Amino acid sequence: MQIDICTLFPDFFSGPLQSSILKRAQESERVQFQLHNIRDWSNDKHHTADDRPFGGGPGMVLKPEPIFEMLESLALPAGTPVILTSPRAPLFGQRDAEILAQAPHLVFLCGHYEGIDERVCEQLCTHAYSIGSYVLTGGEPATLVMADAIVRLIPGVVGCADSVVQDSFSENLLDCPHYTRPAKFRDWEVPEILLSGNHAEIAKWRRKEQVLATYKYRPDLLAQAMLTPAETALLQALKEENTP
Ligand code: ADE
Repeated sequence: MQIDICTLFPDFFSGPLQSSILKRAQESERVQFQLHNIRDWSNDKHHTADDRPFGGGPGMVLKPEPIFEMLESLALPAGTPVILTSPRAPLFGQRDAEILAQAPHLVFLCGHYEGIDERVCEQLCTHAYSIGSYVLTGGEPATLVMADAIVRLIPGVVGCADSVVQDSFSENLLDCPHYTRPAKFRDWEVPEILLSGNHAEIAKWRRKEQVLATYKYRPDLLAQAMLTPAETALLQALKEENTP
């Protein structure tokens, strides 16, 4: 997969793209990142990339010309997703990551300051995502978060394919708790079932823990989870227990 990142701050990415799994994904040529500095495409002598908003108001807005020229220079194949980061957009989720992980080529456009001239959003971007209900200093951390979530789904990037399938969110359920040696640490013991060697019972325990964690921390996900009748009954009982 080729990922182009268009940003005013390419240096932001140098550490994260040279660490851990994203680094290995590049070394194994499963992904190639290319950084583009929007400022390089402004054609005045001060390399101006932003300007005051029409109609007044605080802050600066990214100008359309450098971004149009930069994206046109990429000569993208038709259908290439061009993804804008913005707090004024739908929330990015695991399903979006799964769909985008199928594309051979992605472009991220990092918003900044008060935002980007709306003509860029309308005419150039095919997708826009927010990573949460808070405002970041810019779109760079959001791009990094999304690119990371997408790249780890490319086959071979994460060593153990099962761990990708069993992740939180993959079935609209959070992950179960995990433990490793020692079986007893200070006064705290690992749940006995995990030491039993009974794989069918362990799978049942894990699934129940997933349902319970989702109920506790992200009940909004449950409406889209595929639950068995027994799991639905368990949740109903919990809700009744917790209703005064
Ligand atoms: N830019 C600023 N805040 C953002 C957010 N929450 N998600 C994506 N891009 C952003």
